[in-house]
Amino acid sequence: MPSLAQPAVPPGAMAAAAQPSIDANGVRLRPWRPDDRATVLSAYADPDIQHWHCRSMTALEADAWIQSWPGRWSGESGAGFAVESAGAVVGQISLRRIDLAGGLAEVSYWVLPTACGAGIAGRALGALTDWSFGSLGLHRIEVCHSTANPASCAVATRSGFALEGTKRAEARHTDGWHDMHLHARLATD
Ligand SMILES: CC(C)(COP(=O)(O)OP(=O)(O)OC[C@H]1O[C@@H](n2cnc3c(N)ncnc32)[C@H](O)[C@@H]1OP(=O)(O)O)[C@@H](O)C(=O)NCCC(=O)NCCS
Repeated sequence: MPSLAQPAVPPGAMAAAAQPSIDANGVRLRPWRPDDRATVLSAYADPDIQHWHCRSMTALEADAWIQSWPGRWSGESGAGFAVESAGAVVGQISLRRIDLAGGLAEVSYWVLPTACGAGIAGRALGALTDWSFGSLGLHRIEVCHSTANPASCAVATRSGFALEGTKRAEARHTDGWHDMHLHARLATD
């Protein structure tokens, strides 16, 4: 049965435009390119990124990961960005789950170990959030992280994502089930 409510963002509105680059807060978010393979590989070789994102990556998988993003953009199911600071890729941020009709998305991020501690994740999160509300037309954006990851909690909280609760044993990591914090920001916050 079709929903009686108007979709927050009409179907096709996202795919109608090319994925943009976003310049804000001293960082540049841009679509991934094939020549980012070495950076992606080095990121997923990092024990912390492997642990919190629950995966490692081979070179072939890095290529496939990079190549997956244009299809996710055109399918309106995801939007992945390389995060550049001073012209070098230092991290990633993405809308990893998008529900355009509901006006909802969930964000994922990591920062290369060599760039951690400089506020990159928060600046990228602010830039993506402003674009997602202002240009894409979303209404609510969520960040979920393990309760055992205080660095991610600090990034979300400092970026205005209120802690709404704890989802018990929601995500399986290599060391077992983790409780997950749910943070969210509304366009009206
Ligand atoms: C969590 C993460 C995204 C934070 O990114 P960031 O750009 O370093 O964020 P910030 O600079 O705001 O630092 C966040 C916290 O991490 C601490 N931190 C983590 N690594 C650090 C490092 N190498 N040097 C200094 N501080 C570091 C900071 O002190 C800060 O803690 P504080 O808020 O108590 O001061 C990044 O550490 C990361 O990618 N970690 C591995 C993957 C991960 O956890 N992804 C998120 C899954 S939900």
